[in-house]
Amino acid sequence: MTTVRIALDSRAYDIRIASGLLDSPDVFAAAAARQATALIVSNTTVAPLYAARLERSLAPHFARVLHCVLPDGEEYKTWDTLNQIFTDLLRHQCDRKTTLFALGGGVIGDMTGFAAASYMRGVPFVQVPTTLLAQVDSSVGGKTAINHPLGKNMIGAFYQPRLVVADLSTLHTLPQRELSAGMAEVIKHAAIADVDFLDWLEANIDALMARDDAALAEAVARCCRIKAHVVSQDETEAGLRAILNFGHTFGHAIEAGMGYGNWLHGEAVGAGMVLAADLSVRLGLLPRQDAERLARLIARAGLPVQAPDLGAARWAEWMQVDKKTEGGEVRFVLLHGLGRPVLRAAAMAEAQASIAAHVRAGLSPAEHAA
Ligand code: NAD
Ligand code: GLY
Repeated sequence: MTTVRIALDSRAYDIRIASGLLDSPDVFAAAAARQATALIVSNTTVAPLYAARLERSLAPHFARVLHCVLPDGEEYKTWDTLNQIFTDLLRHQCDRKTTLFALGGGVIGDMTGFAAASYMRGVPFVQVPTTLLAQVDSSVGGKTAINHPLGKNMIGAFYQPRLVVADLSTLHTLPQRELSAGMAEVIKHAAIADVDFLDWLEANIDALMARDDAALAEAVARCCRIKAHVVSQDETEAGLRAILNFGHTFGHAIEAGMGYGNWLHGEAVGAGMVLAADLSVRLGLLPRQDAERLARLIARAGLPVQAPDLGAARWAEWMQVDKKTEGGEVRFVLLHGLGRPVLRAAAMAEAQASIAAHVRAGLSPAEHAA
C-alpha cells in the first residue's frame, strides 16, 4: 500500500492507495467512531457494485451504517440532490458525530464533502473514490461543490476529508470513456509539475489505457504526491493552487455551455488543455512542438483535442464565469514551458483565436472514446 500525506496542521490526513482496500476494515480504523453513525453516500451505479463491501469494512468501527443512494450524473450535482443527503441525515436523526463516506466519482465526492461541510455546521467525512479522476484529483484537497445553472462548481466550500481510501481494483469496472476522462487530470498533473512524469506517461499510456495495475498504481500515487505538495502550500487557492486549474477555464465553459453531463468533465479538460497550450504558444510562452506533444498524449488517452462550437459570444460569457476571474478580467493557467505553469490574464480575442483554431461544429466527445 502507498500512503501519501496531506500536510495541513490539524487538518492533515492520509491518502491510502492499493488494490483491495474496500475489503480491509483496518484501513478505515483512522475514521472509527464506535458510538456513532456512518452514512455511505453513493449513486445508483456505484452502490450496487461496492456499497455492501464498504459497509462490511465499516461495521466494526461504527454503531450503525446507513446508506444514501443518489441519482447518477453531473446533471444531478445540484441543490436538490444535496438536499436528499440532508433529508436522509435528519430522517435518521444523525448527530454531530456522524461520519459521511463518499463512495463514487468526483460528483459524489464533491457533493458529499459539501454536505459534510454544512450539516450541523460540519461533520467528518471520508473519500472513497472509485473513478480514476477521483483517485488522482477530486478526492484530494478538500474542494467541495455543486453546480449552478449559471456556472460550474460555483457553490461550495473548502472542507478536508479525514481520510482518502483509493481502492485501485474498483477501476476495473469503470467504462472506458470514464477512464479516458480520468487520464485528462493525470496528464494535467504531469504538464504543470513534472516533465519526467510526462515522459513516463508517454511510455506507459497504452498500459494505463489497458488498466495495467502496476501502471495505474504508479500514476495515482504520482498525481497524489503532486497534488499533496500543492494543496499543503495553498489550501484555499490564494495563489499556487490555481495551477491545478490548467485547461479548466476552457473546460468549464465547454461543460456548462454544452449542458452538464454531455461532455464529461475530463473530456472538457482534455480539449481545454489543448486550447490553453495553444494560447500559451500564441503568447510566446510555449514552443509549438511542446503544445503538439501534449495534444498527441491527450489524443492517445482517447480524449477530444478539438472544441465544440459554442459561438464566440457564448464562449466569452462562459469563460467569464470562472473563479479565477478578477475585476472582470479572465485569467488562464498557461505553460511557460512544460512543467512551468503561470497564471495570466489574456485578451478575449487571443483566447478566441485559440478556440477558432480548434473548433469543430457538431463535435461529439464520445467519438474520441470509440
Ligand atoms: P462521476 O462522478 O460522474 O463518475 C463518472 C461515472 O462513472 C458515473 O456514471 C459513476 O456512477 C460511474 N462510476 C464511478 N465509479 C465507478 C466504478 N468503479 N465502476 C463503474 N462505474 C463507476 O465523474 P468523475 O469524472 O469521477 O468526476 C467528475 C466531477 O469531479 C466533476 O463534477 C468535477 O467538477 C469534479 N472535480 C472535482 C475536483 C475537486 O478538486 N473537488 C477535481 C476534479 C474534478
Ligand atoms: N482540481 C483543482 C483543485 O483541486 O484545486
